[in-house]
Amino acid sequence: MICLGIESTAHTFGVGIVEDDKVLANVKDVYVPKKGGIHPREAADHHYDIAKEIVTKALETAKIKLEDVDVVAFSAGPGLPPCLKIGATVARYLALRLNIPCMPTNHCIGHIEIGKLMTGAKDPVTLYVSGGNTQVIAFTEGRYRVFGETQDQGIGNVMDHFAREAGLQHPGGPKIEALAKNGKWIELPYVVKGMDVSFSGILTNAIQKLKTEKLEDLCYSLQETCFAMLIETSERALAHTDKTEVLLTGGVAANSRLKDMLDIMCKERGAKLFAVPREFAGDCGAQIAVAGLIMHKAGAKSEDTKINRFWRTDDVEIPYI
Ligand code: ATP
Ligand code: FE2
Repeated sequence: MICLGIESTAHTFGVGIVEDDKVLANVKDVYVPKKGGIHPREAADHHYDIAKEIVTKALETAKIKLEDVDVVAFSAGPGLPPCLKIGATVARYLALRLNIPCMPTNHCIGHIEIGKLMTGAKDPVTLYVSGGNTQVIAFTEGRYRVFGETQDQGIGNVMDHFAREAGLQHPGGPKIEALAKNGKWIELPYVVKGMDVSFSGILTNAIQKLKTEKLEDLCYSLQETCFAMLIETSERALAHTDKTEVLLTGGVAANSRLKDMLDIMCKERGAKLFAVPREFAGDCGAQIAVAGLIMHKAGAKSEDTKINRFWRTDDVEIPYI
């Protein structure tokens, strides 16, 4: 069975095509703001302009015709409404034209399912770290439950914001990682509240310290502090659920220091770390195609194709585990 999945929650317009558990195509184009953060309407305009080209390229890459597609999936949330609406509209159009089901798919569950498929993880605690999202997720009793999450911003946005203040170019994460290699430790606030984390105080403090401290030291300390908070909450989720696998995904999963810190924690606990390959760690159409097809095969309903900007990971009943 062939599924065409459309991702359009934020910067990325992506189309993935999967045949059962084989990825045939994963094509995307990313909107880059001229300056500052993402402008939702400009991002939506980008998605609208590029949609036809990306769908066509994905079909060419997969070496299939549009008529070969059995089900269409799209990211229905969480995300920026103007962007979500473009993906939903393209998906509805294709499904109507082909007279096939149109599966609304949760973006975060997409990250988990493509992560499991690509790494072979079976039942992991997932650390999902991207620009807009930071969550520790694990499956229990019929749903992917959020065990801990950011109370304010996503870790990637924190890195990008700090980098902007320091005069570094977007995206800030990779630049901070490079500068951190020559940095040394400065104390920054460490904020874990129960199982949740909060970054806004750390970000404010780090920006203030730009006036007095070396940039390399701040990059190093920002990484060490924020990542340690994520390791602490992931470790507690592992202990609570008795699981033995950790899945690292999202754009920030590209960070080697985060991977190393998680790996140390996993080894100490006798758990195994699975890191999603870079191509599939950031937002992409394949994550939606994979998760949408699994939901479709499990008999999930596909009539309601409204978007839901706040659609939470733990709102979704998982019929296939
Ligand atoms: P989402 O919609 O899930 O929130 P997103 O739109 O932020 O995702 P992603 O591609 O998942 O997109 O993640 C982008 C983020 O990843 C950016 O904030 C970027 O700075 C960060 N990032 C990329 N590489 C690194 C790195 N090496 N170290 C730290 N952060 C990184
Ligand atoms: Fe994402």
